[in-house]
Parts: sequence; C-alpha cells; structure tokens
Amino acid sequence: MEKKFHITTFGCQMNEHDSETLAGMLLEKGYTQAKERKDANIVIFNTCSIRENADKRFFGTLGQLKKKKMAEKENFTVCVCGCMMQQQHIIDTIKEKYPWVDVIFGTHNLHELPVLLDNLYKEKHKQLSVWEDGGEIVEGLPAERLFKHKAFVNIMYGCNNFCTYCIVPYTRGRERSRKPEDIIREIRALVADGVKEVTLLGQNVNSYKGVSEADGSQCDFADLIYQINDIEGLERIRFMTSHPKDLSDKLIQAYRDCKKLCHYFHLPVQAGSSKVLKEMNRRYTREAYLELVRKLREVDPDIAISTDIIVGFPGETEEEFEETLTLCEEVRYDSAFTFLYSIRKGTPAAKYENQVPEDIKHERFNRLVDAINRISAEKNAEYVGRIEKVLVDGPSKTNSKTYGGRTETFKLVNFKGSPEMIGQIVDVKIIASNTFSLEGEVV
Ligand code: 5AD
Ligand code: SF4
Repeated sequence: MEKKFHITTFGCQMNEHDSETLAGMLLEKGYTQAKERKDANIVIFNTCSIRENADKRFFGTLGQLKKKKMAEKENFTVCVCGCMMQQQHIIDTIKEKYPWVDVIFGTHNLHELPVLLDNLYKEKHKQLSVWEDGGEIVEGLPAERLFKHKAFVNIMYGCNNFCTYCIVPYTRGRERSRKPEDIIREIRALVADGVKEVTLLGQNVNSYKGVSEADGSQCDFADLIYQINDIEGLERIRFMTSHPKDLSDKLIQAYRDCKKLCHYFHLPVQAGSSKVLKEMNRRYTREAYLELVRKLREVDPDIAISTDIIVGFPGETEEEFEETLTLCEEVRYDSAFTFLYSIRKGTPAAKYENQVPEDIKHERFNRLVDAINRISAEKNAEYVGRIEKVLVDGPSKTNSKTYGGRTETFKLVNFKGSPEMIGQIVDVKIIASNTFSLEGEVV
C-alpha cells in the first residue's frame, strides 16, 4: 500500500520548519505527501503549547480522527509530536483518552520519525520516544520547503530565559547553538537550490553563541550576520525571534553595514510597564526598550518594527496596562501580535494568586488591538506612492491573477502578477493601503 503522509502544524515558525524537516525525511524514505489530511494514511500533528487555546485546538482536531482510526486500524497511522509532547501531563492524557495514537515523539528527537514508523510497522506496537533534553545537534537532515525561493534556517535551539509566563524553556530545553560553518554550508546549498531569502530561526537569536569548528573561535549573532551577508547569490536575511536584553550595539551596527539584512525587526516587548516586565523576568525596563528602538531607527530610519504583547499578566493593573498602550503610541509599531495571558502549567506565573479576571483581560485586549490596528493602518498609508522591492511569493488563494509578496519591511503587497514573477524581486508601486496589507502595480 502507498504510504501517504500529511502534517498539520500548530504554532510558530520553529514548528513550521520542524515540519519541513519531517516531510523531507519521509520523502527521502519513499513516502509521498498528501495535499489534504483526508487523503493521507499517515497523519502527523506537530503541536504547540505556548497558550491554552493551542492545546485545545490540537485535542479537538485529534479527537475527530478516532472514528477513522477505529475503522481502518493498522491501515491508518496517527503520529503526534512537538512541544506538547515534552510535557508528561499531556502524554498521560493521550495514553488515557486517545490510546489509539500510534507514535509519540518530542522536539528533541524529530530525526527518529522514520525509524519509529519502521518499528511500528515491524513490531506492530505503539512507539513512544520523547527525550528529556536535547543532546548533540543532528546536522544534515533534509527539509521540504514550502517555497523554492525562501527558506528557514535554524541557528540555535532552546531558551535559557525562563520568562515567568512561558513554557518554551521546558518544552525546547536549554540553548544550543549550531556551528557557524554548518549554518553557512546549509545557506550556500540553499542558495545553489534557488533560495533568495533566509529566515534565521531561534527562540532568542540574539544570544547565539557559535563556536567555530576550524579554530574554536567564538561567533556571536552579529558576526554570523556579517558572514551570511557575504554569501554570493543570497538577497535577503531575516531572523526570528529576538530578546531585547541581548540586542547588542554590534547587531544594530550590522543594519548599517549589511545590505542584505532586511529593514525589519521583530522585537517582543510583552508589556509597557517596568514593574510587569520585572515580574515577567524579562530583565529590561520600558526605558531600556525604548532606547533600543531609538538606536535602531537612528541607524536605519526605514526599519519596520513589530512586537509581541501579553495582556492581563497576573497582577497587571489598569495603570500598568495603560503603560502598554502609551508604549505602543511611542514606538508606533508596524504590527503586533497580541495575546491574552494564558496559564501554563509548570511555569512560575501559573502559581501567582492575583490572576486578572477574564472580562477585564478581554476588555484590555480589545482596546490594545484597536490602537495597534489604527497605528498599523497609519504606517501602511505612508507607503502609498512609494516604489518598493517585493519578493514575489505567488498567486493568492482566492484570485489567481492577484499575486502576493513581501517588501523588505515585511509588508504584504498584493498586485496583478504572472507566474514568471514567482521568486523574483520586482519593483512595485504602492497605490493603496489597508490595515494588514498594501496594494500595488508592477513598474
Ligand atoms: N500567555 C500568553 N502569551 C504567551 N506567550 C508566551 N507565553 C504566553 C502565555 N503563557 C506569547 C509571548 C511570546 C509569544 C510567542 O507568545 O508574547 O513572545
Ligand atoms: Fe519564552 Fe521568554 Fe524564552 Fe521567549 S525568551 S521563548 S518568551 S522564555
């Protein structure tokens, strides 16, 4: 029987890229990929545990497969992996309520999937393999990219920061950086395969600490950017995610020196009040954050800045929330991801007694979103009349003549395009703006 897999990915770009690796490994082993879940006989869920609704959505979707699994038995395989599987209480729930799941693995042993599937089919019993922490970084795994012209590249894994609300240090383990040579080699190979833009991935790329294989020398994140900037054929460099406390002047300087570094910075602030930031264990103040923004704009006046904000962290008062609003007005973010604080079992903040009532959280959230959207729309309106360099991704899902792409500042631009433009950087004149996108004409 043909083995056809489908991967459903929840969560961040780290997970997206892990799924690309899972797909790459299975394709290499001769499996085929189904476009839709209903056409697959191997279904894989790559899960996220960052907030409670991510957990709920996963269990909801998993539950829908029970009937099919009961009917098709060993002809239908269900695998679950990702951040949720690094938590014992989740594994216990799956064993108890979803005992028909065939394969469970974690974030540290993705590379085992082909072996786990082989074992499942040979031994005819369930496979559970979750590593408590990451060992040596496994190099050289294949990845099936979504786009020919863009790629994700992991530069580090894990997080050492232990923000008090966050589950990531528990699900992704301690920080481990790849060797600079391994990263450069991977990007060179990607460029040879048609990639024009790389997005460097890590929970906190600013604390990247690579050690050179050649001479044991240290390579920090800014050093790495300079090296990548020299790769011939590569056009654009992006990265995700940064921690303000580790953002160095050296990296800010790279915006002046490195032509390929896109004019865009995602700099999660989380809250506008220094007191709340302290309770979140973020290790910077409102003032220090604003100073970083000032320095970035000084070096690169065109830079677009986006952020992540949590509303309703335990103990957040109305005044403290208003400090978040005023910070947004001061920074004038191009865009922001806003989140309702969500209790994560095992994190320090989950035990705080002064949780903010749901109705207050929602009311603050709505006020924040209104402010963010207004500012985004104003910022986008400033683009009308400009000519922007757009890397073309392809036609939109709803209209085959409308093409979409991104400016260096990561603005989505829609315009009338044609297939030969895909993967090219074209000049587009911006003729109109919306809250979340721009409209343009190729010049
Ligand atoms: N509740 C709400 N938002 C959270 N984030 C992380 N943990 C939580 C939580 N417990 C948000 C942060 C982070 C983004 C990826 O998710 O803003 O930057
Ligand atoms: Fe979570 Fe903080 Fe680490 Fe980001 S830096 S992954 S918010 S603990």
